[in-house]
Amino acid sequence: MGNRVIEPANRALKGELIIPGDKSVSHRSVMLSALGNTPVHITNFLPSADCLSTVAAMRALGAKVELISDTELVVQGNGLHGLREPDTILDAGNSGTTLRLLMGLLAPQSFPVVFTGDKSLHRRPMGRVIKPLKEMGATIVGRAENTKLPITIVPAEKPLHGITYVMPVASAQVKSAILLSGLFADGKTTVIEPYPSRNHTELMLESFGVRVNHEDNRISLMAPDRLTAPAELVVPGDISSAAFWLVAASIVPGSELLLKNVGINETRTGIIDVLEAMGARLSVMNKRKSGEEQVADILVKASQLHGTSFGADIIPRLVDEIPAIAVAAMFAKGDTIITGAGELRVKETDRIDAIYTQFVKLGGNIEAKEDGLIIHGGTELKRAKCFSHDDHRMAMSLAIAGLAGNGVEIEEPDCVAISYPKFYDELDRLIK
Ligand code: S3P
Repeated sequence: MGNRVIEPANRALKGELIIPGDKSVSHRSVMLSALGNTPVHITNFLPSADCLSTVAAMRALGAKVELISDTELVVQGNGLHGLREPDTILDAGNSGTTLRLLMGLLAPQSFPVVFTGDKSLHRRPMGRVIKPLKEMGATIVGRAENTKLPITIVPAEKPLHGITYVMPVASAQVKSAILLSGLFADGKTTVIEPYPSRNHTELMLESFGVRVNHEDNRISLMAPDRLTAPAELVVPGDISSAAFWLVAASIVPGSELLLKNVGINETRTGIIDVLEAMGARLSVMNKRKSGEEQVADILVKASQLHGTSFGADIIPRLVDEIPAIAVAAMFAKGDTIITGAGELRVKETDRIDAIYTQFVKLGGNIEAKEDGLIIHGGTELKRAKCFSHDDHRMAMSLAIAGLAGNGVEIEEPDCVAISYPKFYDELDRLIK
């Protein structure tokens, strides 16, 4: 668990990278497959620590999960009403998606569940899920006035009932938790989003035969009798992992990288829109379907970036990519102004604070605001020792900042295993 030193790139980044499976889709593939009656063969699964927290939880709930290789699984469920009481506490580790989606799935069940997680997950807000689930009739108790881990779900006395919930924040995890509870609720369950967030739950539910109604920003469903599991599920590559290479190849002079099999679901492609607005040279090629999702190969060539501004309406489409975009902004000419991004304060760490404190050490000229950042680009970067805050996306962003700048020593670098276990191997391969 030593520090990791990233040296400045002494040459352009060239070649091809196959982007590993999408974290959000990997979680959902195991959860929904565990609610079917027939085996589901999942390929291009992301074998990262977060997704393995979901696998462990679904096994504890009675699903059979066979690992054929690290990216290939067969999941056999016991039907929509076949989840079983776990023998012990469910540990979501660092994974907000595991915890929040499972709270939704388990609130309607007839057995109690106790959840825990790591230090970071204990700090994150869970009231945003507990509140609507309680409105549906669930009994949930959490620390800090029902807002934090540890959390206990007590079986409800009567079935949950559908609600129409106007979400105060655009969060796919909150939306998904409510929809998953809705699979077991009486009547119609509707969520209304302030801005569109990732729709992987809705798309995957449809491929399991559930009718999901989507009108403008209202998403609703009725409890089905059963889920009809598809025989095969293919996980698209994760654009949130591709993001680091999109930025690295844009800012290391002379680079040209082909990123293969990148998920381009439009609820996730905000990073492409922002980088293009900054003058990045991206070509999205070979668009195709991968299961219910769209994928493409993206060719990125180095270019001189310039600053841009973006706000609340696009944030859900790039919420995990802001640390990487902040790196691009440090190498851009002019200012980049990010507003409406208060959600960054409640991610794996407070990412506004982490970007500000760590990138300033590298020579960035940055102002932190309550709900955003102003990055004055074009400053000369220097080598420094920086702390990842044990946040995977911070560690990878620091790595590409050091690579394109003057090097970096990253404290707590191993957290990349949360979403991209092979990140440093890929980086080493590109620069050797
Ligand atoms: C996710 C939703 C987002 C995102 C997270 C994954 C998901 O969180 O930041 O990494 O899989 O639904 P929020 O729902 O909190 O925005």
